Amino acid sequence: MRSIFRMPSDDVAGDALGARRFLIIDSLLYSGEEKMKFLDAEFVQGFIRMADDGWKQGWHERNGGNLSYRVKKEEADLVRESFTPKEWQPIGTEVSGLSGEYFLVTGSGKYFRNIILKPEESICMIEVDEKGENYRIVWGMEKGGRPTSELPSHLMNHEVKMLETGGKYRVIYHAHTTNVIALTFVLPLKDEVFTRELWEMATECPVVFPGGIGVVPWMVPGGRDIAVATSRLMKEYDVAIWAHHGMFAAGEDFDLTFGLMHTVEKSAEILVKMLSMRPDKLQTITPQNFRDLAKDFKVTLPEKFLYEKQDGN
Ligand code: 13P
Ligand code: ZN
Repeated sequence: MRSIFRMPSDDVAGDALGARRFLIIDSLLYSGEEKMKFLDAEFVQGFIRMADDGWKQGWHERNGGNLSYRVKKEEADLVRESFTPKEWQPIGTEVSGLSGEYFLVTGSGKYFRNIILKPEESICMIEVDEKGENYRIVWGMEKGGRPTSELPSHLMNHEVKMLETGGKYRVIYHAHTTNVIALTFVLPLKDEVFTRELWEMATECPVVFPGGIGVVPWMVPGGRDIAVATSRLMKEYDVAIWAHHGMFAAGEDFDLTFGLMHTVEKSAEILVKMLSMRPDKLQTITPQNFRDLAKDFKVTLPEKFLYEKQDGN
């Protein structure tokens, strides 16, 4: 009826309604809607969940620890319309293998416990330039700030892992894991010793990290030198311990990388408990047990970790 017998006033009312609708859609597009879109992306949700899981484990006092994810091209395309690129900044090292890559990273000085509540202020997406010498923020850090001070370590580890795994590995995670840190005061800072002692604490360990664990002696964090030392170890291992500081873990996705960190830290907790009860073992998993396990579980355990111990412990 209305479409046939239209009154001039109906037209005005119709137009006004239409205009208002446009306004509503416009304001959604240019304010909240855009932000929601970025935060709704599955990879962003996965990142936030992993950060919160780490916080719940007690590995991220204050601003301790940092997380980075190498974003897939199709994922970047999905959220590209939300980008507002900032100034280019020096990375502090050179990562030419990562030219043009995008990363989701935690912010420097930001608290993991706040990430789930205020992700747009606590994390950011960055783009690496063509030379691999500079980065710029394209999303996030809404109240200012910059990516983690460990960006050189994260990016150098990403570069090594991307190359070593044909692009499969996408996550680098640094956490202040209590028990692993405690062990760096009492065990010799050797890859062989940490790997073997942690393998012995839980049968699943050699299956979860068959390649072993590397150890970086105490170094000043946040710079290129510690990044070079860590990325050197990452050529061989998926885990690097920073003496008296924490751990770095690398992996394909959020589940595998978090699971790796969790397994190593749990094993360290068992070792701390065992050492607290008595300094020696009555029985343990022997080198031959490890060889038998390797056969059945089809993993390769390097012989350098299966040395005979002088005191049998
Ligand atoms: P950021 O807050 O800069 O990420 O530093 C935390 C940290 O753990 C340094 O090693
Ligand atoms: Zn740290």
